Amino acid sequence: MNDKALVAEHAARQVEDGMIVGLGTGSTADCFIEALARRHRDEGLKITTVASSPISTIKARRAGLPQVALEQIDRLDLYVDGADEVTPDLTLLKGRGQDLVREKLLARASGRFWVLVDASKRVSRLGERFPIPVEVWPFAWMAVKARLEELGAQVALRQGPAGVAVTSAGGMVLDCRFDPSLDAAALNRRINDLPGVLEHGIFLDLTDTVWLAEQGRISALHPPSH
Ligand code: A5P
Repeated sequence: MNDKALVAEHAARQVEDGMIVGLGTGSTADCFIEALARRHRDEGLKITTVASSPISTIKARRAGLPQVALEQIDRLDLYVDGADEVTPDLTLLKGRGQDLVREKLLARASGRFWVLVDASKRVSRLGERFPIPVEVWPFAWMAVKARLEELGAQVALRQGPAGVAVTSAGGMVLDCRFDPSLDAAALNRRINDLPGVLEHGIFLDLTDTVWLAEQGRISALHPPSH
């Protein structure tokens, strides 16, 4: 079993009867969906799930997991997702997929937010490996791009297979590379302040536990405030 499958199995084993569980998006979240579905099928685990993206909705349905739509809930017990980067203080970079709005909504609405990663996701600063995605209303993309450039970012409009990428919320994505001296808290504040922004990929102070799988061993990382 590889590290992603191992950490997903570990998280799925801790889900309890009666929980509403948020399902993330990506290859690690896929492993979690499969592990959870096995427990539902083989052990009769009674759960309701809510997906963070259309693709996870389809995967959960195929796996036979009971689901509710995001519109039908105002809170959940546990949200389990992957991440693109994790810093030492457990700030996350997310959004290589295109469902930032739902992902952050679920992270905020959940009693606990667990992040499943292998060692490749650890970075010393946010944005070290990937650009920071900023999702914008389509009519605002030029104006937001200019404001982000004023903050010193190099900005690229994300492309998909058929041209400009459109998110499941109907937004467009600006992938931004900022000066490494700007810290995540400052960036979070500045991007939140920009009109036209729907959501962005900095997940600050949202994580309860990062489950890290490294060469077959799992450890729990907690943010400094816990
Ligand atoms: C989805 O938008 C992202 O936030 C994912 O959590 C991220 O891309 C992780 O994917 P992998 O588990 O495939 O690395």
